[in-house]
Amino acid sequence: MDRRRFIVLGTAGSVAVLTGCGGSGGGEGAVTPPAGTAPLPGSPPVSNPPPASPVSPLTVGQPLTDLVRLANTSPTPNVFAATLVARRASKVMLPGTSTEFWTYNSSVPGPLIEVYEGDTVRIRLENQLAQETTVHWHGLPVPPDQDGNPMDPVAPGANRLYEFTLPVGSAGTYWYHPHPHEFTPEQVFRGMAGLFIVRSRTDPVPSAIQEKLLVVSDLRLAADGTIPPNSAMDWQNGREGNYLLVNGQHQPVLSIDPGQSQRWRILNGTNARYLRLALTGHTMTLIGTDGGLLGAPVPGLDEILLAPAERVEVVVTASLTSPASAVLQSLPYDRGGMGMIGPSAATIPLLTVNSTTAARAAIALPSTLNPIADLGLPTQSKSLVFSSGMGMGGMGGGMMSFLIDGKSFDPARIDLTSRLNEIEQWTIENRSSMDHPFHLHGTQFQVMSRTRNGTTTAEPFVAWRDTVNVAAFETVTLKVVQQQLGKRMYHCHILEHESQGMMGVLEVIA
Ligand code: C2O
Ligand code: CU
Ligand code: CU
Repeated sequence: MDRRRFIVLGTAGSVAVLTGCGGSGGGEGAVTPPAGTAPLPGSPPVSNPPPASPVSPLTVGQPLTDLVRLANTSPTPNVFAATLVARRASKVMLPGTSTEFWTYNSSVPGPLIEVYEGDTVRIRLENQLAQETTVHWHGLPVPPDQDGNPMDPVAPGANRLYEFTLPVGSAGTYWYHPHPHEFTPEQVFRGMAGLFIVRSRTDPVPSAIQEKLLVVSDLRLAADGTIPPNSAMDWQNGREGNYLLVNGQHQPVLSIDPGQSQRWRILNGTNARYLRLALTGHTMTLIGTDGGLLGAPVPGLDEILLAPAERVEVVVTASLTSPASAVLQSLPYDRGGMGMIGPSAATIPLLTVNSTTAARAAIALPSTLNPIADLGLPTQSKSLVFSSGMGMGGMGGGMMSFLIDGKSFDPARIDLTSRLNEIEQWTIENRSSMDHPFHLHGTQFQVMSRTRNGTTTAEPFVAWRDTVNVAAFETVTLKVVQQQLGKRMYHCHILEHESQGMMGVLEVIA
């Protein structure tokens, strides 16, 4: 156990003491811990120490594997049909042990779903887990009743069909994950999340630029190879594991020819990890965000911050003279919270990029990609406040709360109402000392500006996003239009926060 680890444990220990005084007081925002997970902060102090680090590390340096593809079983053109089975599956991670994951179709990460704009998607979910679950199509413009909301659970042993048609213009890099009430953090950290790509038949990026898909997930393994439940600390800060994986592998190797350009689609599929991505010796060209391509490439980026649930498309051009390598890494990032002096303070290698010997000429990107029209002048506005902090004092003192507009999530309550097709301006203010990634279902929005310490910075370019980080004490302003009737969720995408109440319901009315 090294010193840093010790400090983290020490802090966790003192938190347990601090929060242990809650006793039976179920103060405001109290949530019953889902079965099979550790008690939430504020519960009586029971021993749930963070796990010991595994004795032997995971294998590194294997060639990066392609994602397993979900096969389309439909004979009909423009229809994608398949089944996702939510089930347990074991895999050897640490030599001599076996790790049980919760998976879609026994695959970690979940299988890649790949469709074209205009396709109709029919996916049946079979729930073989012991908990209820749903499939949420993160970022996709699907009807509310097909979106896997917590209000539409699929019971253990049950199944249901999700069906939707993806409109032209929706090409982009999305993902899918469970979204049941309270069980989401556990189902995701045990392995349930997958990439969902909507392709365009008129993609402006030259097809000679090879594409690589990188799904980043976060795994915590105990020495015996098991995936331990959340600790009290995890429920506060959001769970961070002891291994960051890319396509389920620890620090794999991607090959690139010297001079070659590659298009990387990267998903942050972790519960709570902030990825401050940098490629040693290289800059990156940003070409796309959550909801698809930008109007024009943004070249020369030394780093890109990818909050939980965000996606980017970048083009990298290998300026390597063979033989050489570069490392895609996550740089230190302070997202606030308690005791965030552990893994977040370190630079974490994600992927090694090795050059081959066959040099190639770089391929130029077009100067225009996919022009994005500004959504226009808002005619309606909404303000939201994120807050989190230690308790209400008094009897239930020490209860950590995660609230939006001072309220904890209630699936039976409508928190906000929007009119169909109305342009709205949303202002999201973070009054807490930790970052919270804001996510809204059902559509993509355009960030207008960010205000910090009294200084407002206009967003440098228009982009489609469904998740935006709202840093501690920052305010983000965005524009959004909802185009389908029904109930939509909005929440912090640190899944432990979402699960403990930092979520609301928006109803879109005619
Ligand atoms: Cu990715 Cu409401 O979630
Ligand atoms: Cu979502
Ligand atoms: Cu949060």
